[in-house]
Amino acid sequence: MENFVAYNPVKVHFGKEIVANLGKTIKDYGKKVLLVYGKGSVKKNGSYNDVIQQLEKFGMEITEFSGIKANPRVDDVQKAIDIGIDKNIEMVIALGGGSVIDSAKIIALCIPSNLDPWKVMKMKAFTRSSLPLITILTLAATGSEMNAAAVLQNRETGEKIGYFNPLAYPKHSFLDPVYTYSVSSEYTAFGIVDLIAHAFESFFVDGEANLSDRFVQSVILEAMRYAIPVLKEPENYDNRANIMWAATCALNGMTSYGRAGSGDWGVHDIGHTLSFLYDTPHGASLSIAYPAWLKLQKDRIPDRIKRLAKLMFNSNSCDDFIIKLETFFRQINAPVRLSEINIDKSQKQEIINLMVKNKVNGYFQKLSTDDLEQIVELMY
Ligand code: NZQ
Ligand code: ZN
Repeated sequence: MENFVAYNPVKVHFGKEIVANLGKTIKDYGKKVLLVYGKGSVKKNGSYNDVIQQLEKFGMEITEFSGIKANPRVDDVQKAIDIGIDKNIEMVIALGGGSVIDSAKIIALCIPSNLDPWKVMKMKAFTRSSLPLITILTLAATGSEMNAAAVLQNRETGEKIGYFNPLAYPKHSFLDPVYTYSVSSEYTAFGIVDLIAHAFESFFVDGEANLSDRFVQSVILEAMRYAIPVLKEPENYDNRANIMWAATCALNGMTSYGRAGSGDWGVHDIGHTLSFLYDTPHGASLSIAYPAWLKLQKDRIPDRIKRLAKLMFNSNSCDDFIIKLETFFRQINAPVRLSEINIDKSQKQEIINLMVKNKVNGYFQKLSTDDLEQIVELMY
């Protein structure tokens, strides 16, 4: 086992009607709140009303910033920072899925010192403080509610990149599975793919960490156990609750301790290229990229893949594992080939070019240009 530091300061408030505790929990962080959300789903699923009611009850002064896009953009984040500075905002509340939470993390980091958000993302500007960030999650997928990562894209530079800063941990995250009843079957499936992909990313890191392997296994088996039930019965509380908690635990540190790093992230990097070019939903980019990546890696790291095959499917073969994984993705209607999301072979070179330009790679499973070309071929 490798040396490690275990740290996660996020207070998670989980359960039905848990947002009833929002006001009293956050009242001491200040009165001036920037409420960040997306394109309007929060007004249909009841979460917006519940949050506003709480903030009004505790006399908060609310400034809203809406319209955060899936695959969020740094220019929207910049607009929110400008408003936040103008209004002397004291606390940021993110209401939504990973895109909203990630945007809010960077907004909260940049307001105090009026920093350029892209310079922060690229590690060219640094901050020692953040406004308090509170999240109210409405989509089970990224784990952003209990980690310190954020992912944004920049249309000008042609990148979608991740960022990690311990200052970006939310102070409190409120997780009411009922808010996820309204998530479409598509995004429910993409969220399940994403959480499984997070467990995979931490698994394909150097170092032996048996307990972390078992956490990886448990998170994945929980997701697979509830995947079909949640799609069949989206308004069943236990189905939603189990998926929600599995997604949070897939990327809150528990699956990584004892290995040499917190993830390989090569497959996420490949997925971000697709999301940048074609606005592919994050989970859909991963259900296409993982099988292709595994096919490339099966002769390089067969023992590691077989270990995962054993943990997930009680199987001893890399090929069998990849077939079973694809079958599962198909069962939940997640795409496994680029053609299924209408990306044809004429776009192949464009994908390869952006991957090469952005130096797509894993931290542990290194990818050459030749490897990237093979992976793109395998995604068709
Ligand atoms: O914009 P609205 O109207 O809110 O609609 C959203 C959006 O269209 C909708 N939605 C959210 N909650 C809903 C709902 N629809 C109905 N009912 C609800 N309760 O779902 C759509 C997708 O939302 P989004 O936030 O984009 O999805 P997700 O949570 O999957 O986040 C994806 C983003 O997170 C990044 C991804 O790269 C991507 O940009 N990631 C962040 C990570 C992190 N911070 O740790 C790690 C991940 O690997 C990932 O990279
Ligand atoms: Zn992800």
